Amino acid sequence: MKQAENLAVTVIAKQFNGAGNVLLTLASASGHPLPAFTPGAHIDVTIPDCGKRQYSLCSVAGEAHYQICVRLDEGSGGGSRWLHHQVQTGASLTISAPRNHFPLPQAPRTLLFAAGIGLTPLLVMAEQLAAQDADFTLHLFLKRHDELPFSARLEQLGARVVLHYSSEGDSLRQRVPDDLKRPHDSALVSCGPAGFMDHLHQLALQYGWRADQLHSEKFKASVVTQSVAGDTFAVEIASSGARYTVNADESIAEVLSRAGIDIELSCEQGMCGACITGVLEGEPDHRDEVLSQKERAANDCIVLCCSRARSPLLVLDL
Ligand code: FES
Repeated sequence: MKQAENLAVTVIAKQFNGAGNVLLTLASASGHPLPAFTPGAHIDVTIPDCGKRQYSLCSVAGEAHYQICVRLDEGSGGGSRWLHHQVQTGASLTISAPRNHFPLPQAPRTLLFAAGIGLTPLLVMAEQLAAQDADFTLHLFLKRHDELPFSARLEQLGARVVLHYSSEGDSLRQRVPDDLKRPHDSALVSCGPAGFMDHLHQLALQYGWRADQLHSEKFKASVVTQSVAGDTFAVEIASSGARYTVNADESIAEVLSRAGIDIELSCEQGMCGACITGVLEGEPDHRDEVLSQKERAANDCIVLCCSRARSPLLVLDL
């Protein structure tokens, strides 16, 4: 398996950031500057005995350090528990270089909709839009007031931030913000749990938004995405002509890794984009959460860890 560039960092601060969240500040362990990133980028954090977990970068633009905000999820595979309970200031971590499959789209007006800790990439986007004096509004949906993260940074953004608390009857299911009822030439950028995003997109389409105006990133792959099962097909490696059969119950990534083919893997759930690979022939059956509608329609790339083929053969640009 191909390794992404790994970076050694030190946790130089660990702070409370709204109920259930910790904010970790990471500095380069070598003293070399950390790579620059753009709003929407994430890093992989290597968690002992758990593998890699993806977290959006939420540092203020231009800062030398990275910041990630981690919500404690007791029901998860253990990554957030480890970062909350085991990692303290001074700890060493291994992370990947930033990767961005959720860039800020260009539009005359931008609506940012975040639920819970889905705020992290959208906060950095909002700050960039504010610095550009662009037209935008950030809607943040939380359960209760004590969950509010990044309160000082949100305050800096002033009236362009609208807070919604479901404990006060102001959730997306109970009250649709007027902004969402007026698509015009806006881009709708959202991040949050799958249920929130699915409901948001349903509403948006109902109010006349076009699919190409919707840009999103989910926390977790949906149940459908996690299923890699389907019909048997073949993949061909363009550079060597070698062909491999992908059986009904395995992913392309599994087959290629087993064969010693060099591919990069991280989330293995179709969410992070690490394994996106070019397709030269054949029609992918996209099952990921990371490619945009436009990228899917182009049919010239595929997410190897979860997607399959509609055609009997896919020729991969490897
Ligand atoms: S490994 Fe993350 S999308 Fe495939």
